[in-house]
Amino acid sequence: MYYPDDVVEEVRSRNDIVDIVSGYVKLQKKGSSYFGLCPFHHEKSPSFSVSPGKQMYYCFGCGAGGNVITFLMQYENYTFPEALKVLADRAGIELPKQEMSKEARAQADLKMTLLEINKLAANYFHYQLKQPHGRTGYEYLTKRGLSDDTIRHFGLGYSNKTSDDLYRYLKGKGYGDGILKESGLFTISERGTWDKFWNRVMFPIMDTNNRVIGFGGRVMGDGEPKYLNSPETKLFDKSRNLYGLNFAKSSREKYFLICEGYMDVIAMHQAGFTNAVASLGTAFTTQHAALLKRYTSQVILTYDSDDAGVKAAMRAIPILKEVGISCRVLNMKPHKDPDEFIKNLGADAFRQRIAEAKNSFLFEIDVLKRGYDLEDPEQKTNFYTAVAKKLLEFSDALERDNYIQAVSREQFINYQDLKQLVNRTAARLGPAWAESRQAAGYGSYGGAARQNPAPGDAGSGAPNGPPYAWRDGAASDGGVRRPGQRKREKEDGAKQSQRLLLTWLIEDPRLYDKIRGIVTPDDFKEELYHKVAQMVFDGLEAGNLSPAEILNHFINDEEQYKEAAALFNASLKDSLGSEEQKKAFSETVIKVRKNSLDEASRTAADIGQLQEIIRARSALKTLHISLD
Ligand code: GTP
Ligand code: MN
Repeated sequence: MYYPDDVVEEVRSRNDIVDIVSGYVKLQKKGSSYFGLCPFHHEKSPSFSVSPGKQMYYCFGCGAGGNVITFLMQYENYTFPEALKVLADRAGIELPKQEMSKEARAQADLKMTLLEINKLAANYFHYQLKQPHGRTGYEYLTKRGLSDDTIRHFGLGYSNKTSDDLYRYLKGKGYGDGILKESGLFTISERGTWDKFWNRVMFPIMDTNNRVIGFGGRVMGDGEPKYLNSPETKLFDKSRNLYGLNFAKSSREKYFLICEGYMDVIAMHQAGFTNAVASLGTAFTTQHAALLKRYTSQVILTYDSDDAGVKAAMRAIPILKEVGISCRVLNMKPHKDPDEFIKNLGADAFRQRIAEAKNSFLFEIDVLKRGYDLEDPEQKTNFYTAVAKKLLEFSDALERDNYIQAVSREQFINYQDLKQLVNRTAARLGPAWAESRQAAGYGSYGGAARQNPAPGDAGSGAPNGPPYAWRDGAASDGGVRRPGQRKREKEDGAKQSQRLLLTWLIEDPRLYDKIRGIVTPDDFKEELYHKVAQMVFDGLEAGNLSPAEILNHFINDEEQYKEAAALFNASLKDSLGSEEQKKAFSETVIKVRKNSLDEASRTAADIGQLQEIIRARSALKTLHISLD
């Protein structure tokens, strides 16, 4: 972190969370909290809450949560220092300058300068388009069906035929060779300096904050390479940016369209599909998926209809599933890509194709089928076995059965036969296989839910339960308890009790009196919970527990602050009203202690320590916590 804790805390506490969030989300007061539609996932009824008391936000739908600083980081895609700066300015706080290390400051300055250069370059290219010598570029774009509005909206441009045009322009603005080289816009060597892009139509690539971070340039007509892209720079990381996302993020459509190219994105936006983005010729990465996940949980793949497009879709599907995005695949035939489809058949036909887009699993089965000659009985059998194996990717029995039904319908396979084959295949492959699939990111159901377990749910079901459901049919015969499963269940139980106890303490600070001296932060064995417990106990002891302040300490790790935010926001309304709940509280305290003692006995160094543990254990037997 660049800034001392007290500075961060001052900036945080001087910016009211309700003020900040209501600048982005329409909020309505309900009880002591405010509710609105979650800006981090698509929903129709509000599950996004903002608590003025805790100075935190939390979405019960998608698990997004944090304090005022993380809100800006999540919403605006700001880095921590960027968010802090905005909030400090807003509250009239001057951030200490010397706190940034010299290196960090130099890096930040470098980034700022590169952004300036890119912006100047984008404006320069755009300006050229309307000049007499830029006519070829302008005509190329209009011939491809782009309107003046679209050209302006995407900031399209033209790079001149002269080979050092932009270089001279930027030199004139006072930039040195060093920084110009870093921009990726030039080739600088002993033999001279050239603009990287010349005689091309230019596509500025923007990040989600509309800042130009790179360029793509297309030859007009034939020529190699067809598209030239900026190299990776301090600003431009291809695997972390999606073309068009700066516009698509505010389309408020519940799904996104993913395509391959610049022209596809632009054509779709022009036709009204403003939720289209492209990964720009590079393979779709996990980082792309994680970025998308901030805005949507559903996508439709609109890749080219050729073999390369199918291959790209097959690669993207598991990556998307892994982060909890469900996807469908659009059939572009008989056209090559969205641009050509829309030009030939129009927006309505495209909308129709969106409605008909195929479930990604059924698409995968179709592709799988192409590898078999179904006229041949042996190959046909092999195909069915492969289908059965693929169906085993679904770890949830009910979900799997739904897919068995769908596949049997689509592929004309008898449902009962297919179900049996699936179960036999499961038994044959065994649990080791299932686990390896799981590890490889296949058994991906409920990905998002598992990443952000809601503490309120702690008692129900097992969010970290076995990845594979060996419950139905023949599979259960082979499905004896897996070794290691028992241990894991126990660990999950321990984790759950720790989580639950923390949530209770935060929700109702009066409970602290009941456990003071019985439980200590050291009883929280989960690393994150231990850290949180330390701060929660300190806060309760001092009578100034501040959930939002505690979150400051986890800001640099999104997974961590989300999980911590979940702890602070479980809904445990009148949870301790009933006798049953009082008993549950008491039992949870005992479980946390017991687990801690178990662990201590495993690591005890001498007889003295062991005796101490034995004494503590027997004390636990008679422990009674009265909440009355
Ligand atoms: P148009 O011919 O202009 O309609 O482009 P397209 O999008 O139909 O082309 P294609 O399917 O060949 O390429 C899809 C995307 O891949 C492009 O938008 C580029 O981002 C990228 N791409 C295509 N050709 C090249 C190339 O030669 N080099 C690089 N680096 N990227 C390319
Ligand atoms: Mn095209």
